[in-house]
Amino acid sequence: MSLYQRACAVIPGGVSSPVRGFGSVGGDPVFIARAQGPYLYDTDGREYVDAVGSWGPALLGHAHPEVVAAVQAAAARGLSFGAPTAAEVELAEAVRARVEPAQLVRLVSTGTEACMTAVRLARGATGRDLIVKFAGCYHGHSDGLLAAAGSGVATQGLPGSAGVTAETAAQTIVVPYNDPEALELAFAEHPDRIAAVITEPAPANMGVVPPRPGFNALLRQVTRRHGALLIFDEVLTGFRVYRSGWWGLEQAGDAPLAEPPDLFTFGKVVGGGMPLAAIGGRAEVMELLAPLGPVYQAGTLSGNPLATAAGIATLALADDAVYRHVDAAATAVQAEVGAALISAGVPHRIQAAGSLFTVFFGEFDVPIDDYATAQRQDPAAFARFFHAMLDAGVALPPSGYEAWFLSAAHDDEALGRVVEALPAAARAAAR
Ligand SMILES: Cc1ncc(COP(=O)(O)O)c(C=O)c1O
Repeated sequence: MSLYQRACAVIPGGVSSPVRGFGSVGGDPVFIARAQGPYLYDTDGREYVDAVGSWGPALLGHAHPEVVAAVQAAAARGLSFGAPTAAEVELAEAVRARVEPAQLVRLVSTGTEACMTAVRLARGATGRDLIVKFAGCYHGHSDGLLAAAGSGVATQGLPGSAGVTAETAAQTIVVPYNDPEALELAFAEHPDRIAAVITEPAPANMGVVPPRPGFNALLRQVTRRHGALLIFDEVLTGFRVYRSGWWGLEQAGDAPLAEPPDLFTFGKVVGGGMPLAAIGGRAEVMELLAPLGPVYQAGTLSGNPLATAAGIATLALADDAVYRHVDAAATAVQAEVGAALISAGVPHRIQAAGSLFTVFFGEFDVPIDDYATAQRQDPAAFARFFHAMLDAGVALPPSGYEAWFLSAAHDDEALGRVVEALPAAARAAAR
């Protein structure tokens, strides 16, 4: 019996999270035994160059010796205390040092929890009930945020999720991304009822669909005008695309936001590969959280000592050189993928947000600005490309709705292997 068959006998679909399944590309998922730097090793000992990066956290590459040492040292001191620690303070300070508008920071265990809490806080702060989200943005799997949630939900071909009540779904207004009129209409139709707009400031869960210039600034103006909060979900982009996330990248560019969002959510890189995420934001909103205020949020393992150790070590190592390296690697890989697909005559479009990028297979004569356009991609061409890359020892995310994640450990050797695999994969996509 294969490991996958054994898994399917005890775990629904054989996987602990649906995005790990190969449902949209076909075949059985690869089971990983260990990882080091830019490489994954499966249970048969096969080596792959990894472009999944644990779906984001592995910014430094896998098993960075200093991160592992920090976690081992923390483990030796005890796994969980259920009491405050110095490491929580240190990590919260490190987050605020990078993202100044995160004046107060609450640590949680998953991005789902962070976004769920941000939404509850927004409702608590405004006394309003409705939330606006954008089609194709993913903010974790809490009930109210699963409508048109891109990514894993899109890969499974689901419009949302069964088990979410109509009442809950009705409290989320879903608006097309990059569409100012639709956003204004939502506010016009629900005066004084919208508590918050939650957005991925550079969406990467419908494939990478960057904001049109000025779109995030417009979100800030519109929410401010209507007395709603703005939540930047930087679970994916935070500390990955830049030292201070997409927020920082935009601030460093030519159209900075006049005013920051009220709340941020972080995850993935901030936990360095351990279960850790965070909510940060304006002090007067964050002070509504229990025990200071009336908005309840809690967690037995929140700010866990192993996770905080991994997060502190990762952020300390993620210096400008790391971001420069990942940017350069991403630019180089995009150029090589583009060249290989062009020479094989495969229609495609590559879109990037910082070092995150997606290769959309299919005919696109305009930028992919929203989820409806992203859904016009050709999943069969992607599946052929994916399997040819996997056969050649390159592990891509098993869905056309995901970004490729590279790391500071992707050196010339690892990138060279990706480049070598491309011509045959491009020919496979062309068939
Ligand atoms: C933008 C965004 N928000 C929230 C989440 C949920 O995070 P988690 O999987 O840690 O619950 C994800 C996960 O992929 C994400 O990409």
